[in-house]
Amino acid sequence: MERLLRAKTLIDDKILYLKQKSQALSKQGLKPHLGVILVGNNPATLSYIKNKEKFCSRIEADFSLINLPEDIEKEKFLEHIQRLNEDHSVTGCFVQLPLPNHFNDLDVTQMINPLKDVDGFHLKTIEKIYQGDLTGIIPCTPKGIITLLEANNIQIKGMDIVIIGRSYIVGKPLSLLLERKNATVTLCHSHTKDIKKYTSQADIIISAVGIPLLITKEHLNPQNNQIIIDVGINRYNNKLVGDVDFESVKDHVKAITPVPGGVGPMTVFSLMENLILTTTNILNNQNKGSL
Ligand code: GUN
Repeated sequence: MERLLRAKTLIDDKILYLKQKSQALSKQGLKPHLGVILVGNNPATLSYIKNKEKFCSRIEADFSLINLPEDIEKEKFLEHIQRLNEDHSVTGCFVQLPLPNHFNDLDVTQMINPLKDVDGFHLKTIEKIYQGDLTGIIPCTPKGIITLLEANNIQIKGMDIVIIGRSYIVGKPLSLLLERKNATVTLCHSHTKDIKKYTSQADIIISAVGIPLLITKEHLNPQNNQIIIDVGINRYNNKLVGDVDFESVKDHVKAITPVPGGVGPMTVFSLMENLILTTTNILNNQNKGSL
């Protein structure tokens, strides 16, 4: 392996810029403020959210968590979303997914005020990306992956990129973004007959399926100098592991992201970038309104 694509130094370099932006917004009268709704108290999820809170404090943004009980009634839950949507002090918000089963008929991603949509899952947000306009909010994990590739001078244009996983959180939006950046994208999923056929040909392999250690050296072609981006964060034998069997592949690739310490922190960093963007947009709208 030539390179381990870690997030830490990259984020340490870039975070000061976000803090300065955040301070400037506060001076102009609108302090960035992230509002999060979490249903239930899964310890792993709580620790992800604590991490988001920590990042908010690093950029001097406010953070509020509304932690609701697992068995909350749908109407009560919807009232909380409504309140966040209407709260003028909150400049970005999201509902932590997945939600308990009794909410299965609800698409909460479409209930978030699009102006505060830091996740980038609202159809109004996705529509811009679909049209090839990347100036708005971009979903956090895909955005973090692109930041990581670009910061490491890894070319996207013209590359054969295989994505495994077609979720609306990662695979689907990522395929649109990479295609817009002139990669040739192949999207594999649970019904793909032979994943190896695609991964062995790829320049870049991105796995986002949440199956521990799915990708091994048998999926690769060491002659191709391949780059692996591992989006998976799976608990396996009391350890955090990715979708990629790191030990099996590490000596057969050009570069790879570690788990933890690769894509995960990049996602949170992108969330902070998105919060600065929604806050800026809200402030600009307010100023337009008062002209
Ligand atoms: N659960 C796992 N990833 C995400 C994400 O990016 N946003 C939200 N809201 N929930 C998630």
